Amino acid sequence: MADFDLVTKAVVPAAGLGTRFLPATKATPKEMLPIVDKPAIQYVVEEAVSAGLLDVLMVTGKNKRSIEDHFDRAIELEEVLEAKGDDERLSQVREPADLATLHYVRQGEPRGLGHAVLCAKQHVGDHPFACLLGDDLIDYRDELLKRMIEVRQARGGSVIALMEVPKEQVSLYGCAAIEPTDEDDVVRVTDLVEKPPADEAPSNWAIIGRYVIDPAVFEVLENTPPGRGNEIQLTDALRTLAGRGGDEGGPVHGVLFRGRRYDTGNKLDYLRTVVQFAADRPDLAPEFVPWLKEFLANR
Ligand code: UTP
Repeated sequence: MADFDLVTKAVVPAAGLGTRFLPATKATPKEMLPIVDKPAIQYVVEEAVSAGLLDVLMVTGKNKRSIEDHFDRAIELEEVLEAKGDDERLSQVREPADLATLHYVRQGEPRGLGHAVLCAKQHVGDHPFACLLGDDLIDYRDELLKRMIEVRQARGGSVIALMEVPKEQVSLYGCAAIEPTDEDDVVRVTDLVEKPPADEAPSNWAIIGRYVIDPAVFEVLENTPPGRGNEIQLTDALRTLAGRGGDEGGPVHGVLFRGRRYDTGNKLDYLRTVVQFAADRPDLAPEFVPWLKEFLANR
């Protein structure tokens, strides 16, 4: 295996405005909306930890308090549960604070995902890092991030996660032009375009919210003007890296993901996600699934 720097840090951008989920996101970050009984962002931190990344930097915005509180101790609550002898809930309450070493940086204004990533520059330093979007969930049974880190370790540069979507949906995502490599699930990314109209998309392979990024991205982001939606786009910076060679932050590879991904950032996908998670929960499914079937049968 080539001698590339190890990936040890994760960055979780969670400073977006979440306008698609208003009014719920007026005072609560969308990353804190519950998927059954845990906020979405907790699943994301658990995923980083299970890929071996124990140093997690959250990029937060105006409504950061609930995120910090969730990943902190809650002494009063713990005392009450302790007094009641409710060990199960006690460990659920303690769990988020014990998961990883968490750090926070604030993105003063939501100037785009690229700008949020740039806010991580000082903490990350000159090392490759993983970036996990706080509203995008990957099923814990499908080990995408570990595979992406492996690809970075073997090939250097940056690695994005790609998922095939129907043509009419490509305009919702960043989209990649790709070439095959000698590995079935790895492609070379030759171009990237953010939210293209369906007829201009270079492929059906959409960028989903997991990245392993070379630190050269910071210098590129500093020189990336605002793009689509007047935001500094991470896709634009990765496009620049995709055109570069090995010692300048490139190349960019894509891992083709065929597993289960759940979007929680808009109302309809959020509802789908909650139902799927509930139907998978051994403590809820035996009552929830028959109820759901009956409910639907009577619609
Ligand atoms: P989205 O593209 O979903 O944008 O961000 P958004 O602003 O959060 O939501 P809508 O479109 O208004 O509904 C993708 C990820 O990047 C983060 C978001 O928190 C989300 O995890 N992000 C986005 C930032 O941290 N800062 C930004 O300026 C923009």
